[in-house]
Amino acid sequence: MNANELRKTYIEYFGAKNHEIKKSFSLIPDDPSLLFTVAGMVPFKNYFLGKAPLVFTRAVSCQKCIRTNDIENVGRTRRHHTFFEMLGNFSFGDYFKEETIKWAWEFLTEIIKLPKNRLYVTVFTEDDEAYDIWKDKIKVPEDRIFRLGKETNFWEMGTVGPCGYCSEIYFDLEGGEKGRVSAEDIEKNDDRFLEIWNLVFTQFDKKEDGTLGELAQKNIDTGMGLERLAAVSQGVYSNFESDLFMPIINDAAKRTNKKYGEDEKTDVSLRVIADHCRGVVFLIGDGVLPSNEGRGYVLRRIIRRAVRHGRLLGLKKLFFSEIVPVVTHIMEEAYPEISERKDYISDIIKMEEEKFGETMDKGMEILEREIETMKKEGVQELSGAVLFKLYDTFGFPAEITEEILEENGMSADRKGFDEAMEKQREKAKAAWKGFNAELAEKIPADVIEKTGITEFMGYCVLYDEGCKVLGITGNGKELVSAEKGKKVEVILDKTPFYAESGGQSGDTGILKGEGFEIRIDDTQKFDQRHIHIGEVAVGTVKKGDLARAVVDEERRKAVMKNHTATHLLHSALRRILGNHVEQAGSYVGSERLRFDFTHFAQLTGKELDAVEAMVNEWVQESGEIEIEEMEFSKAKEKGAIALFDEKYGEKVRAVSVKDISMELCGGTHIKNTGQIGFFKITGAGSTAAGIRRI
Ligand code: ALA
Repeated sequence: MNANELRKTYIEYFGAKNHEIKKSFSLIPDDPSLLFTVAGMVPFKNYFLGKAPLVFTRAVSCQKCIRTNDIENVGRTRRHHTFFEMLGNFSFGDYFKEETIKWAWEFLTEIIKLPKNRLYVTVFTEDDEAYDIWKDKIKVPEDRIFRLGKETNFWEMGTVGPCGYCSEIYFDLEGGEKGRVSAEDIEKNDDRFLEIWNLVFTQFDKKEDGTLGELAQKNIDTGMGLERLAAVSQGVYSNFESDLFMPIINDAAKRTNKKYGEDEKTDVSLRVIADHCRGVVFLIGDGVLPSNEGRGYVLRRIIRRAVRHGRLLGLKKLFFSEIVPVVTHIMEEAYPEISERKDYISDIIKMEEEKFGETMDKGMEILEREIETMKKEGVQELSGAVLFKLYDTFGFPAEITEEILEENGMSADRKGFDEAMEKQREKAKAAWKGFNAELAEKIPADVIEKTGITEFMGYCVLYDEGCKVLGITGNGKELVSAEKGKKVEVILDKTPFYAESGGQSGDTGILKGEGFEIRIDDTQKFDQRHIHIGEVAVGTVKKGDLARAVVDEERRKAVMKNHTATHLLHSALRRILGNHVEQAGSYVGSERLRFDFTHFAQLTGKELDAVEAMVNEWVQESGEIEIEEMEFSKAKEKGAIALFDEKYGEKVRAVSVKDISMELCGGTHIKNTGQIGFFKITGAGSTAAGIRRI
């Protein structure tokens, strides 16, 4: 059977047994404890735990999954993958061991007709119940049933969550009469015995402290890799030789003028490319974009590893993005949505491929030279500094460098790498807190040292008395005083002036004191100081003077309306387009706002209208804006949208409009959405692939 038929036959088989047929859920789980959907049961976790009301007690799915914990093995073996599909049937307090085992056996031996004399089964050491079902009810001969320990026959989702003992079904790839098979053969000889189906009797909930709690109901979670099933059903030895992979491998091979199956090194690279292209297509299809963190980093690593293997095959030009249509063609029957997005997916890959391609050759040269020297000097370990430089300057994920080193029998100093990375993070953090290159030129470092952190009063008031002038600079120099006509930067001990950050523009206004007046045209932040930038309009200002700081109220109020409107717009976009929408940048001024966000496609007129209407409805409702300080973890729990996690300390400021929006935000806002008056979209476009602008 081909893979499409297998997928369909499986779903139909269990569908006929009253299982609710579920379409695959996203690769991005709705579960903060997991980076990716790693098994078919992940989307059903709350059903297993009894936390969600059961609308059905049986389900069947073919679930997209990603596992990258052993990515370095992908390509080297015939069964490791990043992306794979898991066929699974589930029972939530409905049927248990007997039906599960009976149906699994019937499906394999009678529906898709795998020969019984190629199948072996295992049960958990103490699970007599499962053992007896296999022996007495299914009539599997006892020399084909093995008891194995927790290592193999206990399944858990991650470090916590639903789990249980399991029974596994293995396929003998070699077959024939080869003498008695032992439990050890099944466990260790995975060249010959391929695990194809895992039947988990989910009856425990693993807690944070490692203890197992009994679940209120007994459940079933099964998982069978479609790629393995396709291979054994099609009589091939390797998943890669099934119809899910072969067209991709052939396409890649054609580009290199090589043939699959002639040279092991070439084959490894072809398998890497084929596997990774599938993974990347589905990750981008589910909204992941390459980045240096989290899911985006995993995606980046996969793309770059594939590109590197392309280079090993002599592919110098862009090639990886061009393979996308081959993947989407194979998969479109089950996942039509990725075919619809194939151009977008190709574009994202191409950008990443171009970016890496440019620096990769230079990086490779450096690494090869390093390896030469290390060999000469008998050094085994590459320094953390070089590992980091390859990452930072040449875009080599550390894991790729390590893999190359491993091919040369070497390793790398990962600890040194982590230290270098940490140092850079610190720097970046400091930079985020207020490094402003332009201001760094204007304001001598000792002025910053001599002045303290500015206390910001502007959340509550728009003018303040008795603000002390701690520092004055002009033309890059510290000044003791400044007279009329002089362009200056002024630092106060406290101020109601908002300094530009988080997209919100800095305040304008006036600083007034005895015998002087300074017009402020902008306020910027530098090292936690608010820098008031302007010109002395009247008299002379001296260091140490007291001033009355008055923000231009009309302008600031307009800014606040635009800032609150930005939050409403963000919420409306997520509701109308989906939760993949994330803020990618914003500008909040007095006359308008601009919002950049992640989304695949251009917005249609209808979508824009709907967004505009939704925001205006919220404006009409005159919802109150509530601002609350809380622990970061609590805000996350309440569902606040946090844009750049690392920028927040422990205590955060949550800005919310009840039932509409909750964002962590340091900006200033109006009190009531009604003050916005009216919201109008005047333009929509795109700034980069995958990034839209309103
Ligand atoms: N959740 C089980 C597995 O992934 C079925 O093997």
